[in-house]
Amino acid sequence: MRRYLDISNVNYSGKKFDVLIIGAGIAGLYAALNLDAKLSCCLITKESIDISSSWLAQGGIAAAISEGDLPQYHFDDTIAAGAGLVNEEAVRILVEEGPEDIMRLKSWEVPFDLDDEGELMITREGGHRRRRIVHAHGDGTGRETIKALARLVAEKENITFLPNTFLFDLVTKGQKVKGILIGDKNKKEFIRSNNVILCTGGSGQIYLHTTNPGIATGDGLGAALRAGAKLQDMEFVQFHPTGLYIENNKGRSFLISEAVRGEGGILRNIRGEAFMENKHELKDLAPRDVVARCILAEMNNTKSKFVYLDITKKSKEYLSKRFPTIYGECLNQGYDMSKDYIPVCPVQHYMMGGIKTDLQGRTNIIGLFACGEVANTGVHGANRLASNSILECLVYSRRIAQYLNSDCRDLIDEYRIDKSKKEYEKDHFDVNKEKIILKELMTKNAGVVRNRANMEKALIKLEKMKDKLINLTISSKERAELYNMCFVAMEILKSAIKRKKSIGAHYRED
Ligand code: SIN
Repeated sequence: MRRYLDISNVNYSGKKFDVLIIGAGIAGLYAALNLDAKLSCCLITKESIDISSSWLAQGGIAAAISEGDLPQYHFDDTIAAGAGLVNEEAVRILVEEGPEDIMRLKSWEVPFDLDDEGELMITREGGHRRRRIVHAHGDGTGRETIKALARLVAEKENITFLPNTFLFDLVTKGQKVKGILIGDKNKKEFIRSNNVILCTGGSGQIYLHTTNPGIATGDGLGAALRAGAKLQDMEFVQFHPTGLYIENNKGRSFLISEAVRGEGGILRNIRGEAFMENKHELKDLAPRDVVARCILAEMNNTKSKFVYLDITKKSKEYLSKRFPTIYGECLNQGYDMSKDYIPVCPVQHYMMGGIKTDLQGRTNIIGLFACGEVANTGVHGANRLASNSILECLVYSRRIAQYLNSDCRDLIDEYRIDKSKKEYEKDHFDVNKEKIILKELMTKNAGVVRNRANMEKALIKLEKMKDKLINLTISSKERAELYNMCFVAMEILKSAIKRKKSIGAHYRED
């Protein structure tokens, strides 16, 4: 692997900040808002504030805040879903500190749904033995949270917001962060900082069918790998059981939130038979990995590309209010949820693995922090519990900010990148075609059910793609994305081949 993608034309503009945050989902915004106002901060996002996995999050945020619930019960459910591979200390922090972050969001005017008494409305999702998920505008939790946080960010004088900015690389000197390289095909700019927080989200675009937005090409993971950061648990990829099935869909998969099952939805095979009854004690609300595999088995048995989700016991009035986004999209696709079964199938949704961090979000590179889906704090283990992801974004981004508020490394030197002498090939290369090849390989060979022979074959093909890529000029965003996707996909395959036993979301049929 080469150290930098492209340093042929770097502009040392002199821009510098105490803290750089890459990614403006909930983790990035909340980190920025929790930083001391004395610290200058630059918040960068690949496209715009409304393009992120956080923005699309429907279900909600899990925390033990309802009567009769306790952080200990939330802890137990998180450990059970994670199949024993979780970091218990990290989960303890998550469940104990999380409720306070939810209350802070409420005081910051995130419009959580309230009942007639003005109390938070709380729903249930898979793997939770109690109702503990707060939500906003029914199924618009991520979008509404981001809107509220972005309004606050706009008022902060210490925060500079840079949309449409692509991260090419993290700049390091030895094991220390010195800043980042951003830019486009023709020019790269070096922004200096000794403290960089990666909140770049997931890498679902390495699969054909994902709920992730188009920007989720693993750019943070790729840059971290080139900088020498350690990744962990990369074999654990979460497939959400209920993506809306659309024949020949080429775009992002639309999610039918688990909260639909939390409000009584039942899975049925194409013969109309409810099939989760005897599969798990939590039935349709079993953890995601279990439900996804049961759905695949039904699809195979009935030779169908989907199963159904049945919520017809609820009225049109209830569903359009409780799930306005989902109700509207189903209607667009020709299904009235109050009358019709919804066709669904498992789709890639979340990466449990990521950049290994400690409980302060620190990585093995000094000054490099990671938070949210790009990070691996150990709270999810082999399978993430529903709606723990935004909670993790909140708790751990705040902890990073608090750490930096008391220990922010100052900039003292004017580091410049050593230029490599190597000339790269400028050949024509069909990036879009190669992206499809990669997605097909991962979808076929590193999905819900895996086996060694197929994964090894896929890895060999990706090694060949990598051999081509490392000799090419990688100056455009599109090539950089493919480069990142290729390396992230190889990491997933290597870890998945190494783990011979099935556990959580990693299921080996061999
Ligand atoms: C959902 O609404 O089902 C997704 C929530 C999550 O991914 O935690």
